[in-house]
Amino acid sequence: MSKERIKFPVRIGLLGCGTVGGGVIRLIQDNQEYLTSRVGAPLEIRRVLVRDAEKDRVPECRREWITTDVDEVLSKDIDVLVEVMGGEEPAKSLIERAIREGKGVVTANKLLLSKHGPGLVRMASDHGVDLAFEASVGGGIPIIRTLREALTSDWVESVHGILNGTCNYILTRMRDGKVAFDVALAEAQAKGYAEADPTLDVDGHDAAQKLCVISMLAFGANVHEVDVPVEGIRRIDQLDFRFAERFGYTIKHLVIGRDLGERIALRVHPALIGKTSVLANIDGVLNGVLIVGRGLGPCLLVGRGAGDMPTAVSVVADIVDVARSKIGGEPGLSTRGIQTADRPLAPITEVESRFYLRFDVEDRPGVLGKIASGLGDAGVSIEQMVQEGRAAEVSDAVPVLIITHSCREGPVRDALDAIAREGFMRGQPRLLRIEDV
Ligand code: NAP
Ligand code: HSE
Repeated sequence: MSKERIKFPVRIGLLGCGTVGGGVIRLIQDNQEYLTSRVGAPLEIRRVLVRDAEKDRVPECRREWITTDVDEVLSKDIDVLVEVMGGEEPAKSLIERAIREGKGVVTANKLLLSKHGPGLVRMASDHGVDLAFEASVGGGIPIIRTLREALTSDWVESVHGILNGTCNYILTRMRDGKVAFDVALAEAQAKGYAEADPTLDVDGHDAAQKLCVISMLAFGANVHEVDVPVEGIRRIDQLDFRFAERFGYTIKHLVIGRDLGERIALRVHPALIGKTSVLANIDGVLNGVLIVGRGLGPCLLVGRGAGDMPTAVSVVADIVDVARSKIGGEPGLSTRGIQTADRPLAPITEVESRFYLRFDVEDRPGVLGKIASGLGDAGVSIEQMVQEGRAAEVSDAVPVLIITHSCREGPVRDALDAIAREGFMRGQPRLLRIEDV
């Protein structure tokens, strides 16, 4: 490394100093010497954009960096723009402006990438700058790098991921601590895992946004979140965990992507997976992604998927990469390697699996028969059926649990619609897919 190169700093403008931004500042300040040797030049934070200049920040954040004026952050003497403010606007406009001005960009913003990722990648490519986004998926896990670099020679057949730390934390606490959903969510928020709007986490949208980002790299596909079937975890209760346990399963919130050749199949929902599955014991805030490559076979990545320091590790690693490529005189090389196209999506009704179906019903003669014939009429075959006595979770009703043989989802939904119209139902039937992973 030439001494001359170490002389000039890589100047950083930061958009946001919340959970992630605070972690980024701490990591850069605490590891200055080490990072300088890795980059070949010191990393120097110049400006930090926030909404409220009076708010307390991490102690490593110097007062003089803080500004509410975006023009100070996007000034001429910034080499790398780091966007950790979240949301669509003004993040998108500021990133586009930075790209036009030839600055490298690092972002953790999956919402933005899920809506505009392919366009922003193309724009960065055209301007010969880097757009790096490792922290947008899986917090500290190097999933983007793995797909973009390590597996660039392989064909990705499928991806199964636990990619929302908040959902995984809640489901783990409900299962192991028997705590209520609301209590577990409050804990996840206090630990800094949840999005500013936690409905994005618990209703599955955060995970769906991550699947869109993954699909760009794994399947070369332009995917918009609205096209991905999404279900969250709000309806899961202790009774579902008890039934799952009884049949040898646990419940995880999964993102699933599969290359079917002409089409790709994408979906996000809670699912029953066998207790011996490689994903079954990835608990708490941990994320896990199982990638199956045609040449490689299965490859599992596990790590902390949310929180200040794990996410900062990914953001700062991207800063190091972008800074290195600027110093090396080849900015934009890794971004140019990302090629995407429109690919048709297979409807979820065509997906085949076994199903866990729960009916909370009036306790009266003939009900079991009607459920069985409703399923039979739609061509859905029953593998197991259990009726329990009254359960605390369902007042005035008894739960009936059915595991089906493998079949397409369309007929199962038709049967549930028909059964839901019967007078004996208390609430909507519950459908959870059983994933062999
Ligand atoms: P956060 O704690 O809410 O912090 C957001 C920061 O951005 C705050 O400092 C806020 O300023 C600033 N900000 C937001 N809108 C602004 C605006 N219009 N003008 C100026 N400043 C603005 O969010 P976070 O959890 O750090 O998340 C940041 C990004 O990282 C999001 O895209 C998120 O999805 C992503 N991410 C988060 C995690 C995680 O574990 N939290 C993990 C991976 C990725 P004030 O402080 O003054 O309000
Ligand atoms: N809210 C997100 C999660 C943060 O819980 O996984 C990490 O992207």
